[in-house]
Amino acid sequence: MEDVEVFCEKRPRNDAGNKVTVVLGAQWGDEGKGKVVDLLATEADIVCRCQGGNNAGHTVVVDGKEYDFHLLPSGIINPKSISLIGNGVVIHLPGLFEEGDKNDKKGLKGWEKRLIVSDRAHLVFDFHQVVDGLQETERQAQEGKNIGTTKKGIGPAYSSKASRTGLRVCDLLGDFKDFSTRFKNLVQQYQSMYPSLTVDVEDQLKKLKEFAERLRPMVRDGVYYMYEALHGPPKKILVEGANAALLDIDFGTYPFVTSSNCTVGGACTGLGIPPMNIGDVFGVAKAYTTRVGIGAFPTEQLNAIGELLQTRGHEVGVTTGRKRRCGWLDLVIVRYAHMINGFTAIALTKLDILDVLDEIKVGVAYKLNGKRIPHFPANMDVLQKVEVEYETFPGWKTDTSAARKWNDLPVKAQNYIRFIENHIGVPIKWVGVGKSRECMIQMF
Ligand code: GDP
Ligand code: IMO
Ligand code: MG
Repeated sequence: MEDVEVFCEKRPRNDAGNKVTVVLGAQWGDEGKGKVVDLLATEADIVCRCQGGNNAGHTVVVDGKEYDFHLLPSGIINPKSISLIGNGVVIHLPGLFEEGDKNDKKGLKGWEKRLIVSDRAHLVFDFHQVVDGLQETERQAQEGKNIGTTKKGIGPAYSSKASRTGLRVCDLLGDFKDFSTRFKNLVQQYQSMYPSLTVDVEDQLKKLKEFAERLRPMVRDGVYYMYEALHGPPKKILVEGANAALLDIDFGTYPFVTSSNCTVGGACTGLGIPPMNIGDVFGVAKAYTTRVGIGAFPTEQLNAIGELLQTRGHEVGVTTGRKRRCGWLDLVIVRYAHMINGFTAIALTKLDILDVLDEIKVGVAYKLNGKRIPHFPANMDVLQKVEVEYETFPGWKTDTSAARKWNDLPVKAQNYIRFIENHIGVPIKWVGVGKSRECMIQMF
């Protein structure tokens, strides 16, 4: 505590401090956030995750090597930057170490020394993952449909957090007897809801104790760590959003969403950052739309176009291996994501996937009973019913994967990009034309 007082005394309250750059998904996830973060992380001092858990799957391709990150910030690749898992993230410890060890084998050495974990982050236990599966079965039985979750225990872990029975990293590292009691109570709570749930409590506690010791050196008071980072010498701080705007618990296509705030507010609450320290907010959007799991998808193409996008785009979930549903770019949802996030610029990824199309459509408005609606519907029954108004563009039918600057792109592709930019009302800063780090055209 002494440290904190001295620190606060030295720095006047009006010291605005460093700004944080936030990278967020503007659709239903898998827009290429990992790739954008990797690009920016080469110059970052700290790369943070603020929400979600290992439901996220972020792919980064560097020097022909493909990495997929679920809980680790993609910045972990950069040996010069620190990675931070903030309080808003829910952490499955077996998943975290498995991911780290897997990447260590791929050559990602020293990751444990570069990782900092907030003591306020909540834990996902194995039984949360089992309960996730049981809830999906229950939804299927009761409503004839489930959510199509990743079964990583995300919903149940955030439910424990919200119902104030969850356990945090600081609890695990505190008095283990106390932790064990609360763990047993939590198991009992879930067993009373799901009588078929069996948990080998002693075995779980033994494993958790081992994980605790491996985790201990990485754990810090996340709020104080961020405060120091914001108000110390100039630092480049990056926040890597997980999931996406349309999966946000408040703003997404509820109930077919995840259980955290994947929009800009999540960066503040998930790290303890004041809003005034938020700088650039970059939205990541694919040049078309995909969705994993169940739920309304107005521009979905259940036809040869959808199949082409799926195969050419290798649209398969990184976390679940499921095929992603595909459709035309829906600018209604990207504009909606912008209303909430206030993007300062957009990264438009996977333009190259459209290279072979004769014509390309873009959803520009929704109609209900023949009338345009100005808002994005909250009610899923309404969203299922909207009629999409499209603009049609001629395809450029040219390979763009070797383009490295704006002028390398065919004029028809440039027109497509400019239309998107004008329609969202946000400048497009990057255009992605391939998987690897260098396949990104920077516009300004
Ligand atoms: P994230 O969850 O937002 O990080 O995105 P994912 O990694 O789940 O999915 C994006 C996929 O598209 C990954 O396989 C990336 O390697 C790939 N990708 C990203 N940008 C581009 C691009 O511009 N062109 C192509 N062809 N692939 C890309
Ligand atoms: P990244 O960070 C795509 C989807 C799931 C499911 C719903 C709820 O890679 O973009 P959950 O397991 O979170 O309770 O599942 O949300 N979902 C994602 N879809 N990309 C993601 O993350 C996702 N995270 C969750 O498919 O429909
Ligand atoms: Mg993904």
